[in-house]
Amino acid sequence: MIFLSPIVLLILTIFPSHSANFIPQVAKYRNIHIRLAEGLVSIPSVPAESQVLLLSFNRISSISLDSFQSLPQLQVLTLGAQVTSVPVYVGQAAFQSLPNLTTLDLGSNNNLRLHLDAFRGLSRLETLLLDHNGLNESVLESGLFGELTSLKKLDLSYNNIRRLQPDPSFLGLHSLSTILLKLNKIRDVCGDALQNLQGRRLELLDLSSNPLQVHDTSFCPNPFRNITLGTLDISSMAWNAEKVETFFKIISGTQVNHVRMRHSAVLGSGFGFNNLKNPQKSTFSGLSQSNVYILDLAHSYISELSSDIFSVFPKLLSLDVSNSQVNHISPGAFTGLTQLVSLNMSGNLIGEITSSSFASLSSSPLRMLDLSSNHIGVIQHAALNGFGSLDSLSLRDNALTNIPPVKLPGLTFVSLKQNRISNTFGLSSFCPDCKLVDFSSNRLTDLRNLWDILELRSLQQLLLSDNKLSQCYTTNKLLGNSSLLYLDVSDNTLGQVWNDGQCSDIFLPLTSLQTLNLAKNQIFSLPKNLFRGLKRLQTLDLSRNNLRLIHQELFTDLKALKSLNIGSNNLVALSSSNFTPLVSLQSLDLSDITLICNCAINEFWNWMTTTNVTVKVNHKDEMSCLSPSPPVREIPLTVYFNEC
Ligand SMILES: *[C@@H]1O[C@H](CO)[C@@H](O)[C@H](O)[C@H]1NC(C)=O
Ligand SMILES: *[C@@H]1O[C@H](CO)[C@@H](O)[C@H](O)[C@H]1NC(C)=O
Ligand SMILES: *[C@@H]1O[C@H](CO)[C@@H](O)[C@H](O)[C@H]1NC(C)=O
Ligand SMILES: *[C@@H]1O[C@H](CO)[C@@H](O)[C@H](O)[C@H]1NC(C)=O
Ligand SMILES: *[C@@H]1O[C@H](CO)[C@@H](O)[C@H](O)[C@H]1NC(C)=O
Ligand SMILES: *[C@@H]1O[C@H](CO)[C@@H](O)[C@H](O)[C@H]1NC(C)=O
Repeated sequence: MIFLSPIVLLILTIFPSHSANFIPQVAKYRNIHIRLAEGLVSIPSVPAESQVLLLSFNRISSISLDSFQSLPQLQVLTLGAQVTSVPVYVGQAAFQSLPNLTTLDLGSNNNLRLHLDAFRGLSRLETLLLDHNGLNESVLESGLFGELTSLKKLDLSYNNIRRLQPDPSFLGLHSLSTILLKLNKIRDVCGDALQNLQGRRLELLDLSSNPLQVHDTSFCPNPFRNITLGTLDISSMAWNAEKVETFFKIISGTQVNHVRMRHSAVLGSGFGFNNLKNPQKSTFSGLSQSNVYILDLAHSYISELSSDIFSVFPKLLSLDVSNSQVNHISPGAFTGLTQLVSLNMSGNLIGEITSSSFASLSSSPLRMLDLSSNHIGVIQHAALNGFGSLDSLSLRDNALTNIPPVKLPGLTFVSLKQNRISNTFGLSSFCPDCKLVDFSSNRLTDLRNLWDILELRSLQQLLLSDNKLSQCYTTNKLLGNSSLLYLDVSDNTLGQVWNDGQCSDIFLPLTSLQTLNLAKNQIFSLPKNLFRGLKRLQTLDLSRNNLRLIHQELFTDLKALKSLNIGSNNLVALSSSNFTPLVSLQSLDLSDITLICNCAINEFWNWMTTTNVTVKVNHKDEMSCLSPSPPVREIPLTVYFNEC
């Protein structure tokens, strides 16, 4: 872990894009020298065996051959974001004494001047960051990179490049596979523009946020001829459906595994507008031979998924149409996606799911379906039946009032969070093999529903926080041991249940439970046998309640408990004997608790200061108690003890 001073952290928040560049990379090295933001005006001298030298955020304005001593082992050098009033100048062969350099970061030097021979000798360099440097197209056309025969990643994002025509020196850059050109001023990429990259595969070509124009094919032959692409990022283009169609026709035949086209602000009619067209089958037809596996159309204005729209993508594995305006899914919208594994339709305007909505997907091996943050209020009976391989389903943040009346035998992860569901009816046929159910922020009222949910025999994690649990009906149901490991019932009103002494048997089946969260439940007292049988419990959170005392027997069975939080309670009295049954206890959180002054707390204080358990209080040395007799006042414990 690198220690970063507050000034560096401040700078990192100002230059977030810059910080992302170097922090994760250095952990694997030895001999790391961090000299960030020290006001240095020249390269400092460091031990000859240094492997990493971080010099960003200094005031170095000139780097030349004489700047560095010989550092044969140096692999990572960052010189980004120098604070100078003059352009940062990198002279001839400036890094020649660093023959082993693999990563060089010169980013965020707003006005960088590079000698045409600046990078001489860097034959091992793999990553070169020249983002935010005020560079124009000459950076690609002056043979600057000719010696960087190991170069894999070139970041030229956020510059002023207007033309993308890498010069013949790129022919020798055989390892180059990632070229980032986001947010430049490139308007055209046509025909032979990329001829010096031909014959190779680019894992990532990021052209997003450029004012790229789409011309007719006859004016603009495919620039990616004889190039294969891993990811092509053409996000944030001002292309309507016709332009998108033309662009894909132009690049027709090029292999692109992942098409990223996010934030297409004029792709689709939006909701309530009619002047722009939604994409159709023909929109993507140019990609029919491209072997696209991943299509990312998030943040578009598509409002309708028309029939056969994706039928040219027979190999598609993952489709993302999240955060768009989809309110209508035509029958057959997903026809042809016979390999689809993951579909993300989160953040759209879908109001209901009928049996025709996803019918065209029913023969695909779909495993993940994200329908969160729509307006789904109705799911037709059996609408999703047949999705036998569906493993993960999110219906979070919709308007459901019931468990969906569908059968998904393969489902293991389901989120129903943030709906309006008030009963658990149908859960065991909905997802009989669920391992994780997120039922938080719904409208359950009866704590006894827990036992209905526990009929899911595979269930391991259950989230019931932020419901309306405030009562508990008796039952004559008999429940076997449950395999549940994690239960969160925080932020309910369970105090009402237990103040009346009801349902003290509720956790009895949870013989495997490891984590139980009961925080924020307005609990005044707990039945003394509530935790009986929880022999595996390791973490118990009782914080943010109104507990006034803890029964001597409450924790008797919790032999495995390692962590107990009873912070933010009104505990009147605590005794060390409360904690003696907890033989595995390692940490005890007592922050923000109120103790009433009485001489018995002397005993507890002594235990607290000698125990091996890590006790967390707000200010350990300044714990105080509240004197009950008027005038009510807080007295520091150390003062109070003298009165006993
Ligand atoms: C260059 O770095 C490699 C590790 O990437 C190391 O094995 C080699 O010894 C280094 N060369 C020199 C001259 O230190
Ligand atoms: C591009 O940048 C180079 C180097 O800074 C400069 O010499 C040249 O005049 C610039 N070209 C244009 C067209 O601005
Ligand atoms: C693709 O490019 C390589 C390298 O320039 C070249 O050798 C090869 O002939 C080209 N193939 C085609 C089909 O143009
Ligand atoms: C679906 O997309 C949303 C919005 O982009 C994202 O937050 C969510 O994580 C995605 N879902 C999955 C399962 O990846
Ligand atoms: C349930 O768990 C308890 C405690 O671990 C054990 O004594 C009992 O035999 C278990 N019952 C069954 C049916 O497995
Ligand atoms: C605390 O730990 C030490 C060393 O493990 C042990 O000798 C000692 O008995 C422990 N003290 C208490 C109060 O548990």
